[in-house]
Amino acid sequence: MTPATGAPLGLGVLASGRGSNLQAILDATAVPGFPARVAVVVSDRERAQALERARARGVPAVWLNPKDFGDRPAYDAALTGALEAHGVGLVCLAGFMRILGPAFVRAWAGRILNVHPALLPAFPGLAAQRQALEHGVKVAGATVHFVDEGVDTGPIVLQASVPVHPDDTEESLSARILVEEHRLYPEAIRLFAERRLTIVGRRVLVR
Ligand code: GRF
Repeated sequence: MTPATGAPLGLGVLASGRGSNLQAILDATAVPGFPARVAVVVSDRERAQALERARARGVPAVWLNPKDFGDRPAYDAALTGALEAHGVGLVCLAGFMRILGPAFVRAWAGRILNVHPALLPAFPGLAAQRQALEHGVKVAGATVHFVDEGVDTGPIVLQASVPVHPDDTEESLSARILVEEHRLYPEAIRLFAERRLTIVGRRVLVR
């Protein structure tokens, strides 16, 4: 059903693997009245579980094989083509393991979100949970942020913290953080879809 404010916002979720964040988004957006829906899921990996999760919900699932494209701009252009073809208004990176080129980021500026398993700006990049454990922090967490041309550097929308326990392993800490990722990401999408987010410099104002 179309909400009173108009058609739901179309989401394009980009995922390379397991897709648990995609699943949280699929579940949240399936609730009647949620102001967004998943319009398409795109993966760079043919066997990504995320693609299966999309198909199981009847959501278009697209595999874009990097080997079919000569360079990053060509790949990113195909990505934009797939997103536009499905009426996407917000791109959600959910464990997408490819770097997006500057042209893509500029074309979608202010319309790309990412989830990162750390309290940014601490521990950007790969294996954030391991970085946090190795650093010896007592508090870790999750961040949803807008994507800019850097790696995990864009304006922060929402964050949540979790404790780090003395006996934590990378797996146990990741699992605790993931619970927060699954809660934060749909909430950030809702705020965006309801036009309650404004980017002012590095800050995201939430109405
Ligand atoms: C999550 O930890 C996310 O923060 C990071 O990659 C992981 C993806 O997990 N960017 P999943 O594929 O959503 O289960």
